[in-house]
Amino acid sequence: MSTATQENAYNYKVVRQFAIATVIWGIVGMSVGVLIAAQLVWPDLNFDLPWTSFGRLRPLHTNAVIFAFGGSALFATSYYVVQRTSQTRLLSDSLAAFTFWGWQAVIVLAAITLPLGYTTTKEYAELEWPIAILLAVVWIVYGIVFFGTIMKRKTSHIYVGNWFFGAFIVVTAMLHIVNHISIPVTFWKSYSAYAGATDALIQWWYGHNAVGFFLTTGFLGMMYYFVPKQAERPIYSYRLSIVHFWALITLYIWAGPHHLHYTALPDWAQSLGMVMSIILLAPSWGGMINGMMTLSGAWHKLRNDPILRFLVVSLAFYGMSTFEGPMMAIKTVNALSHYTDWTVGHVHAGALGWVAMVTIGSMYHLIPRLFGREQMVSVGLINAHFWLATIGTVLYIASLWVNGIMQGLMWRAVNSDGTLTYSFAEALSAAHYGYIVRLIGGAFFLTGMFLMAWNVWRTVRVADYSRATVAARIAEGAH
Ligand code: HEM
Ligand code: HEM
Repeated sequence: MSTATQENAYNYKVVRQFAIATVIWGIVGMSVGVLIAAQLVWPDLNFDLPWTSFGRLRPLHTNAVIFAFGGSALFATSYYVVQRTSQTRLLSDSLAAFTFWGWQAVIVLAAITLPLGYTTTKEYAELEWPIAILLAVVWIVYGIVFFGTIMKRKTSHIYVGNWFFGAFIVVTAMLHIVNHISIPVTFWKSYSAYAGATDALIQWWYGHNAVGFFLTTGFLGMMYYFVPKQAERPIYSYRLSIVHFWALITLYIWAGPHHLHYTALPDWAQSLGMVMSIILLAPSWGGMINGMMTLSGAWHKLRNDPILRFLVVSLAFYGMSTFEGPMMAIKTVNALSHYTDWTVGHVHAGALGWVAMVTIGSMYHLIPRLFGREQMVSVGLINAHFWLATIGTVLYIASLWVNGIMQGLMWRAVNSDGTLTYSFAEALSAAHYGYIVRLIGGAFFLTGMFLMAWNVWRTVRVADYSRATVAARIAEGAH
């Protein structure tokens, strides 16, 4: 189908809105990340105010990067991919618009309530019940738009990317609703319907699968479309992608207890979580290999295509973090890593290296196409962004490996008389230099995001949606 017809046949407006929101929320969320990283170096930056204290800004950071940045990217790409691969327009323009404005409303409400201290205290599920209900409504409408579009598709089969997006939408709804069941006591305070170890288990069933289905399965949907597109090669193995899908969604859901090692959770549940996490290495690497091997015969393109480099390096970090995760799930390793900066380093190997890099690569592919341009205005800036992001991620992860292993060893060191060798304050001050390096890494990553915003602004400013121009571009053979 020609690009001119696409503009009429597909709803690109909502994709454009979510794509721009991705860049804006990326900058906001990562700026807060850099601020809290700086607070860990200079605690005075808490400004002695409750609203700007680390404890309140940290959930603001996690919500902004995961749900505002990552969520907007998933909405944009899933709406784009489902239309393109189903060769049909979204089920309903008004429902799609509702998901955009509804999602932005949730984000703004989160940005107001979290610094004010309104929180359920459940990690990644902090939003109080009125906002959680709004989020559930938006999500269900998202499901209706996505699956409704699949149902009216003009192709016989459902492209594998949509399987991943579909699982991400269904499971996220399930997790969000089950984990948020609570009893409201006031408009801004509720208590979980679960108690004790059950509450912890449900929370980490949610938490781990937020990683598995939000930060992994959704982004794999993105990977399965944008890697082959940018490489101009079909996916390496369609059969492997099907095996990858079923293995991943069958296994992920059991691994949550690895967050609760050595707690009041029954021992058998901890061991089950450990074993399932180790098995999870196989489908994770199956997916990574499938993405990487798509470049067979096209490796030379990496030399001058920074977008492809973003996508390939994101897969490398995906492979790295899904190797590290199963290792950390082993109880004896977790005895060292838990509570230390190693966990935070692991998180950002996945979050910066995988989630943010695959998003950035996909956006550089997508944005010019949405705005009637052949490519981003500056390829040089994409290249600079690539290096800032890669070096930033490596500095972030490496400094926290050093910090984490050092903290774990210092905390467990005992003298011959059984007393602790180091006080907690000694371990804390030893971590100071690592925090400085992490801050520098984060600042590198954020600088890259500003370059992206500048490049996107220049590309979008000269956007041309007019059918004549789009048609002319097709005539030139470029789309
Ligand atoms: C400029 C980039 C970023 C910087 C400087 C940054 C910094 C930080 C800092 C300082 C923390 C608190 C760590 C602690 O409590 O000791 C944190 C936590 C976290 N960040 Fe980021 N971050 C960045 C980007 C991201 C992105 C893009 C994502 C997700 C897509 C993300 C997800 C998280 C998560 C999930 C946590 C909680 C980790 C845990 O509980 O172990 N961050 N970040
Ligand atoms: C096979 C894949 C993976 C496994 C088995 C795994 C395993 C683990 C383990 C054992 C922990 C430490 C739990 C603790 O000691 O508290 C952890 C923490 C975490 N991982 Fe992974 N991981 C995997 C992949 C990923 C990926 C790809 C991401 C990000 C995109 C990610 C994000 C996180 C987050 C956010 C946490 C911190 C949770 C918290 O305490 O707040 N993981 N993971």
